[in-house]
Amino acid sequence: MSLTFDHVTVLGTATVDALRDVPAGWVVDCTLGGGGHSELLLESLSHVRVLGVDRDPQALKAAQERLCKYGPRFEAVHAPFGDLSVVCKQHNISKFVGVIADLGVSSHQLDTEDRGFSFRYDGPLDMRMDPTRGQTLADKLRRTSKRELADVLYYFGDVRASHRVADAILAAYGDGVRGTSQLADCIAAVLPRGGKIHPATRAFQALRMWVNDEIEQLERLVATVPYLLSPGGVFAVISFHSGEDRVVKQVFREFARGKTSSFELPHRKPLTPTPQECAQNPRARSAKLRVLRFRGASAEQEAS
Ligand SMILES: C[S@@+](CC[C@H](N)C(=O)[O-])C[C@H]1O[C@@H](n2cnc3c(N)ncnc32)[C@H](O)[C@@H]1O
Repeated sequence: MSLTFDHVTVLGTATVDALRDVPAGWVVDCTLGGGGHSELLLESLSHVRVLGVDRDPQALKAAQERLCKYGPRFEAVHAPFGDLSVVCKQHNISKFVGVIADLGVSSHQLDTEDRGFSFRYDGPLDMRMDPTRGQTLADKLRRTSKRELADVLYYFGDVRASHRVADAILAAYGDGVRGTSQLADCIAAVLPRGGKIHPATRAFQALRMWVNDEIEQLERLVATVPYLLSPGGVFAVISFHSGEDRVVKQVFREFARGKTSSFELPHRKPLTPTPQECAQNPRARSAKLRVLRFRGASAEQEAS
């Protein structure tokens, strides 16, 4: 049975433009999702092949159905992108001409009740991007301390009342709450009302990032990719969270530092969606695209 996968690709044209001049070879799409960015690349850049990576088997299935028309130019891999070096070895690819990552969850994941990402439904306390492995949110809540949970809420969700919210979550879990909308109600009950977004939004984002080790995955990715690029290769990352953007910005700046660096930043500032894109797809509003380009090692660097 074919799978309906609703997700509107963010910064698609800007991403393709960033990779337009790469040489022929493999591009890895680290966050394949519904295959939106991959399809744009396969359509627009006839000299590249795409290796699509996702930790979510449902996303892989949907993307494979969508992209099988490209034959051997497209391959899909079930893996976390933090393991990209392992993926390279398994696929006998030593260098990429491009690497893209469009971080976070897809609309499909958010809108699928039984995945437990959203408080719009009363889904299970799960939130794993890969439901075949790892601890669910319920598993983590069973084992955590109030201190750890408060840190998660503060650092990943910028939740100011992190201790109060951590208390509310642990009390709700202790009282037998096992559904996402019930949990959101318990969080909202200890936070001030008002504002445009649901009071539990930031806490839910933090819990999701915790369950999926999202910052650690990103740190591993950005530390690995620059060494996997062939000359002229490009690394493009779209983030939606200030903590993630900070990680990308710092690592990219570090690689591109100094006049003799083999890397360059084609854009000093991150690229952001146009007002039209934001109007058509409100999810795009907080997106930032950063690009790092590998010029190629100089003779001295090759020798050292
Ligand atoms: C925003 S969606 C990508 C949407 C896609 N670019 C498109 O336009 O259709 C993010 C996807 O990345 C996957 N993902 C997030 N973190 C991951 C990780 N560490 N390893 C592998 N996949 C990851 C999620 O499962 C999700 O399917």
